[in-house]
Amino acid sequence: MIKTAMIGLGAIGERLLDKFRSHEDIQLAAICEQNEEKVAAFRSRLPEVSFYTDYKEMLNEPFDLVYIGVPPKFHHDIALYAMEKGIHVICEKPLANSLEEAEEMAAAAKKAGVVNAINFPLMYSKAVYTLKEKAANGEIGELKRVELKIHHAKWPRPWQENAWIGGREQGGFIREISPHYIQLMHDVLGELKNVEANVQYPEDEALCETGVIASMELADGTPVLVDGLSGIGQEDHVLFKLYGEKGTLSLVNWGTLEQGTAASPSEEIQPLTDAPSVDLISETVKAIKGQDSKIVTFEDGLRVQEILEQLLGKGTKVHN
Ligand SMILES: NC(=O)c1ccc[n+]([C@@H]2O[C@H](COP(=O)([O-])OP(=O)(O)OC[C@H]3O[C@@H](n4cnc5c(N)ncnc54)[C@H](O)[C@@H]3O)[C@@H](O)[C@H]2O)c1
Repeated sequence: MIKTAMIGLGAIGERLLDKFRSHEDIQLAAICEQNEEKVAAFRSRLPEVSFYTDYKEMLNEPFDLVYIGVPPKFHHDIALYAMEKGIHVICEKPLANSLEEAEEMAAAAKKAGVVNAINFPLMYSKAVYTLKEKAANGEIGELKRVELKIHHAKWPRPWQENAWIGGREQGGFIREISPHYIQLMHDVLGELKNVEANVQYPEDEALCETGVIASMELADGTPVLVDGLSGIGQEDHVLFKLYGEKGTLSLVNWGTLEQGTAASPSEEIQPLTDAPSVDLISETVKAIKGQDSKIVTFEDGLRVQEILEQLLGKGTKVHN
């Protein structure tokens, strides 16, 4: 059994809790959560789990795997602490809260030689598998343009209202949403380059961005447009779209795949029947067992962070 600890039972940690508990190779032995009320609520539900409010105290016990589901600015210190103890790590995205932190995390993971994975659920999506296959087998012809639209009526979204997500220090939809799609583009279309971003911020310097208009390029120069906006009279709309000379492929609101041509409007299509049923936890378990697996590593997360920081308008350093 893989003795596992979770750190952070927030909106996303809670979502993963039962997935860890139900995996046959995982023994969820401990949870660290700073919020005492949450600890009290979960303690009675999970009598077999030890609860902590201090992760260092928890990690005095031996663990094989730790999941880090805390806000972005705490990923770095906790991940380094765990990896130095030789513990395999699953970290939430974005990998870090700065390029420097991400570089240190990728280097520390390499040095520790532990399995290091980031939670990018789109990498396990059947719709994304299908989009990738169809783009690769020429169904939309030569790719002319890629578009990422992140439109939110309100930011933060109602399901994720917490102290940090609307703040400039570590929140905002650029940090929260775009890493998923940067990773998706790296996986499906290759590395991105030449980021130019114009970010709109409110006057209050504590608050996150309200808009971004950015362009990037794929390796062959194909343009990628990024259009992010919040606080608009429109329902939430997150769109990732490939425009090809023969047709289009779109991922709409994360999970719906659409295909269109000049002759037929973009319509929902079903994932390919051979799309594999995979998920982050099962793939991480495979990696720990030394089997072939699909995980997004800290090295991959560093590449995402490089583009993310440029989208936020923070310098132009490019990985080489
Ligand atoms: N992969 C995804 O699809 C996805 C979706 C949403 C959020 N996220 C990411 O997950 C992370 C957490 O986001 P969230 O929305 O769950 O945040 P949240 O604020 O709801 O939850 C974070 C939890 O961590 C706890 N915490 C903070 N510091 C701690 C510490 N040192 N020790 C123990 N507990 C601590 C807080 O009390 C809180 O309960 C962020 O990095 C976010 O970007 C990922």
